[in-house]
Amino acid sequence: MQTTGAKATSFRRKDLLGLAELSREEIQAILDTAVSFKEISTRSIKKVPTLRGKTVITLFYEPSTRTRTSFEIAAKRLSADTVNLAIAASSAVKGETLIDTAKNLEAMRPDIIIIRHSFSGAPHLLAQRLHCSVVNAGDGLHEHPTQGLLDLLTVWEAKGRLHDLKVAIVGDIAHSRVARSNIHGFRTMGSQVIVAGPQTMLPPYLPDLGVEVSYSLPEAVRGADVIMMLRLQLERQGQMFFPTLREYSRFFGLNQGHLALARPEALVMHPGPLNRGVEIAPEVADGLQSVILQQVTNGVAVRMAVLYLLSGGEQSGAAA
Ligand code: CP
Repeated sequence: MQTTGAKATSFRRKDLLGLAELSREEIQAILDTAVSFKEISTRSIKKVPTLRGKTVITLFYEPSTRTRTSFEIAAKRLSADTVNLAIAASSAVKGETLIDTAKNLEAMRPDIIIIRHSFSGAPHLLAQRLHCSVVNAGDGLHEHPTQGLLDLLTVWEAKGRLHDLKVAIVGDIAHSRVARSNIHGFRTMGSQVIVAGPQTMLPPYLPDLGVEVSYSLPEAVRGADVIMMLRLQLERQGQMFFPTLREYSRFFGLNQGHLALARPEALVMHPGPLNRGVEIAPEVADGLQSVILQQVTNGVAVRMAVLYLLSGGEQSGAAA
């Protein structure tokens, strides 16, 4: 993999809220640090003392399998103490506000609070009001920065570069914080991004983000190096943006025929969870070009890097 030569010290922030505000050097510094941490997860004893004495709280107001678990594993592999606040069993159900909950948690002196919330901007609000670090684990329709970073790491590992690639992002762009973080990430690193989906799922501001827009999956994936399929976020829509799931799948579900239009070594990606047979055919999701589970593996390394750097870590070669 070609690096920019950036050192981890290029990343000096209190919070990680989105990829839109990160420079190329900052992104590269996180990826370099993540690479240095990957080996820890292959050891028989998967633990280093790097964040011993630090406390990390996860605060998930929305469901999660991958993000919450991998943040907790990442913190534990660095020897941080972790606390997961189960929202359904917390005083949030008695009506406590987000700010009050966060201020009370901060009074217990954590070092990092990781939050997922259905409101875009909720992590930014906490970052303004709290002294500890805040990490955005997905806010509404806005951003999911660690997903964007783990996707970048997965492509960097497979392709050896993050510039001059054609990245096709297909599906429900309007409701996807993953799409937004990946658009910012891949554009900042020098790749071309084309987004495709039904017209009703493509917000009007996309050209302002420097991406091409298509209403055709075959057009988007033709010659692509990376195909990123998005989950239909039916829980966010409140209304149908297409006539039937069957029709959506027919026009915007990735199958083997579409894959043949892309470059021979094209990567198939999906942030999960999958709607198998809707946005992606099972044989493509499980096929040789799929890196969906590598994305999940890389999520641990990227989140270790983020926790380490927000804690003041200095070196990209951080593994002890
Ligand atoms: N990709 C992702 O955010 O998955 P989870 O919702 O399971 O965390």
